[in-house]
Amino acid sequence: MGALVSLVAVAVLALLAVTAVASDNLRLVFGAVIPGVAFAVFLVGVVARVTRWARAPVPFRIPTTAGQQKSLPWIKNSELDNPSGTLGVVGRMFLEVLFFRSLFRNTKVELITDKEKVNYIGTKYLWAAAMAFHWSMLIVVFRHFRFFVEPVPRVVEIIQSLDGFFQVGVPVIYATSVLLIVSLGYLLLRRLADAKVKYISLPTDYFALYLLLGIAISGFLMRHLEKVDIVNVKAAIAGWASFQLVAPEGVGALYFIHVFLVSVLFVYFPFSKLLHAPGVFLSPTRNLANNNRAKRHVNPWNPPIVGHTYAEWEEEFHDKLVASGFVLDKE
Ligand code: HEM
Repeated sequence: MGALVSLVAVAVLALLAVTAVASDNLRLVFGAVIPGVAFAVFLVGVVARVTRWARAPVPFRIPTTAGQQKSLPWIKNSELDNPSGTLGVVGRMFLEVLFFRSLFRNTKVELITDKEKVNYIGTKYLWAAAMAFHWSMLIVVFRHFRFFVEPVPRVVEIIQSLDGFFQVGVPVIYATSVLLIVSLGYLLLRRLADAKVKYISLPTDYFALYLLLGIAISGFLMRHLEKVDIVNVKAAIAGWASFQLVAPEGVGALYFIHVFLVSVLFVYFPFSKLLHAPGVFLSPTRNLANNNRAKRHVNPWNPPIVGHTYAEWEEEFHDKLVASGFVLDKE
């Protein structure tokens, strides 16, 4: 049900964008005003949420530990799985952010009913699909700099020519565009086909996937079917940067679908689970070293402890203690 609701929501959004071709005013709204406002919401939203996280107090060290802690010199510790210092934290974060190391260790539970046994099997499909999706999206977005920057940076041109290395189709089909669509397709099918994953999936899980798929497919079709005029697109995009509203000319429905779905993504991003991208850097389970035993950490807002020493106690009950024959420390 959640999957269907999200599919309908994204389809309605796409249809809404198609109306943009009808008039000059709508072209201006969908092609310039909405993307500009959406980008502003994205920037302010992400900065606000990240600032809020950054200001949250972290009184205790709670790093996830998955290996031997540093202790006695003759016990071999695992610096990447249980970092004792900043270098280990940086190493672990680097592998996590760029290669999803913890997902690489993903396991699947399997029930062998006839033997009454539970099996935990390592499975790499999710990891492979997540890597393919995130990396190809990064490269696709990076390639988009050719629309935003003039002259096009050399590094963007190099990545572009490597991406189109196979020289298939006119215009050339980029490997990462295909990989992006295929990996998103897998991530969606996984939620729909696996009963356990389907059970825990929320409408928002599907919404993000349909939205990204909508963006990727409309972009792909725009390049290969509609054959959009990049010069016109650049004029509209340059308008966003200089706060001038320029309606894109010579583009069709697919362009408006693409840009409107990207605008929805921009607005949705700061308030959704997609914010895990900056969030991983602020996660105390990942960004802290486990030096709990080597160093004493005191909670900074502990109230001052007002103690009551033995001497003070004796002083307070002095008469009563003397009357009961108690031998006092202080005569
Ligand atoms: C405001 C932001 C964006 C604008 C103005 C934009 C514009 C465009 C244009 C004009 C094309 C056609 C390219 C060509 O004919 O060579 C395109 C293609 C494409 N776009 Fe976007 N896009 C934006 C954001 C995104 C984002 C965030 C994604 C990914 C999630 C994306 C994914 C794609 C894909 C997969 C293609 C297919 C061809 C390729 O890989 O270059 N776009 N986009």
